[in-house]
Amino acid sequence: MLSKVISALYLALWVSSCAVMSAEDPYMTRALKLMSETPLIDGHNDLPWQLLKKFNNELNKVDLYKLETTQTNIPKIKEGRLGAQFWSAYVPCDTQYKDAVRQTLEQIDVIHRMCQKYPEIFMFATSRQDIVAAFRMNKTASLIGVEGGHSIDSSLGTLRTMYLLGVRYLTLTHSCNTPWADNWLVDTGSEPSQHNGLSPFGKQLILEMNRLGMLIDLAHVTVTVMNQVLNMSKAPVIFSHSSAYGICPHKRNVPDEVLQRVNETGGIVMVNFYNDYVKCDKTASISDVADHFDYIKKVAGVGIIGFGGDYDGVNRLPEGLEDVSKVPKVVAELLRRGWTDEEVKAALGNNLLRVLEEVEGVRDSLKGVSPDDVLIPYDEVKNSCRMSYGYRNTGAVHSISALALLLTLALQALIALTAL
Ligand SMILES: *[C@@H]1O[C@H](CO)[C@@H](O)[C@H](O)[C@H]1NC(C)=O
Ligand SMILES: *[C@@H]1O[C@H](CO)[C@@H](O)[C@H](O)[C@H]1NC(C)=O
Ligand SMILES: *[C@@H]1O[C@H](CO)[C@@H](O)[C@H](O)[C@H]1NC(C)=O
Ligand SMILES: [Zn+2]
Repeated sequence: MLSKVISALYLALWVSSCAVMSAEDPYMTRALKLMSETPLIDGHNDLPWQLLKKFNNELNKVDLYKLETTQTNIPKIKEGRLGAQFWSAYVPCDTQYKDAVRQTLEQIDVIHRMCQKYPEIFMFATSRQDIVAAFRMNKTASLIGVEGGHSIDSSLGTLRTMYLLGVRYLTLTHSCNTPWADNWLVDTGSEPSQHNGLSPFGKQLILEMNRLGMLIDLAHVTVTVMNQVLNMSKAPVIFSHSSAYGICPHKRNVPDEVLQRVNETGGIVMVNFYNDYVKCDKTASISDVADHFDYIKKVAGVGIIGFGGDYDGVNRLPEGLEDVSKVPKVVAELLRRGWTDEEVKAALGNNLLRVLEEVEGVRDSLKGVSPDDVLIPYDEVKNSCRMSYGYRNTGAVHSISALALLLTLALQALIALTAL
């Protein structure tokens, strides 16, 4: 009871601080009005990773109303008018071939527990409709994105199980190759290409994600993978936290040709606020972030733009955008630059809602298609931590034993003949 009273006090505090913020600036007043009508949907936030790093996921000991050592907490979420968040279930690449799946499940668990611990703030969400419903209830719709293909250990069964747990996007790679996809470091030349993009299993995975209705996230992959997926996916793609290469030529950013193809295919690029991607520098400003919004709008249209702040995943953010409470300042800056209400609403959330609607539509249209149960070839994933269960008595083995049976019969016939 006392904690609820304290919570109410905190909320009263943020409301009054926002009133101050809006009184100063007519663009801010308009920004906050638009944000009360359309949910701000952010593509990537690493608070769950901070909960692991700082607290070993001991959420019982954490008070998200008072947590001050992160860029995200409940008062900041309220002040920033965060309508919906894809919380990142991220585990580092050094878990690959080890305990990546367990670690990822624990991050999924901590996101679920966060929603259960603060039901007055978060509503767990898995669909377009859930996001809209949460927004009507003044709650932050909370979705899960798994960041890095290593988290599924090359297993479509694991992908499907994570979907059942509520995961709604998979970033195909983090900053390491998987046994079936190349990561962006290949494009920097610091790592060799292993698959020239996607392997045949990687292509199976794309179609299985289409069938499930899971968003395909192309942040962190090579340009070749981006183009291969854009060529073959039946549903639009997302970049959950990437900015424009044409402004800052960092290989994590999206080149112009790809931006245009994202427009042609109805996808979305959710702009990352990390200084190194915004300005290719250690420092950046709100205006530099707005430049990415303007640039993407010019190159590929306002229909592909979204927000993907990467809060709590990065240590250098633009001056004035240090935590999630500051996001309305970007919206005000876009209005100052002449963006219309409709354009701002598209970037805030309507574009992502459209993408989700299309992805869900593709899923519904593929209802009659069976799950893909063809495994990745064993020799592509063989390592000392992986048993060969599931690779026995397969079609290939059957044909080998059939061949052996034939040979035995032929040999017996030959022996019988020579005996005559
Ligand atoms: C949500 O907040 C608005 C503005 O504060 C308020 O008018 C509305 O009644 C709230 N809705 C719910 C369902 O609490
Ligand atoms: C994608 O398709 C286009 C048009 O068919 C083709 O030119 C291009 O090489 C393809 N890209 C990749 C990476 O497969
Ligand atoms: C985006 O795609 C639409 C068609 O889907 C097209 O009408 C529009 O011109 C494109 N915008 C840009 C800037 O290329
Ligand atoms: Zn990332």
